Amino acid sequence: MRSTVADEYSALIDEARRVRDNAYAPYSGFKVGAAVRGKSGAIYRGCNVENASYGATICAERNAVAALVAAGESEIAAIAIYTDDPQLTMPCGICRQVIVEFGKDAQVITANTSASKQIAIGDLLPDAFVFRRS
Ligand code: THU
Repeated sequence: MRSTVADEYSALIDEARRVRDNAYAPYSGFKVGAAVRGKSGAIYRGCNVENASYGATICAERNAVAALVAAGESEIAAIAIYTDDPQLTMPCGICRQVIVEFGKDAQVITANTSASKQIAIGDLLPDAFVFRRS
């Protein structure tokens, strides 16, 4: 029973759950799905894609954000992350920086089979680095 996340995110969570099936995670066995809602309302999906050269692995969140950018959008309204881990999965540091690049006010929703939680990206990455040419 999901009680902490508003109903408006249930479709986004479902998309993240579905795309997780496509995750390529033969090394960790940890499959992650992510779904981004752009400002337009469109949804973009991503799953983690691992590599024999471990450092070449890309997280689900960054793949979903890349799909949003490739579609010509530039603003993230919300991103949902789905795993079957009993502990809700939070985005890694690199993914936080990538999310904030396209969504200063993005909502991050993390869910598993039995629970979900919503948190603003600004609370996950306070004082984010912003590049300004001097
Ligand atoms: N991973 C994600 O895709 N997103 C996260 O938020 C955490 C970690 C992936 C990377 C790697 O394929 C596996 O999970 C274990 O770290």
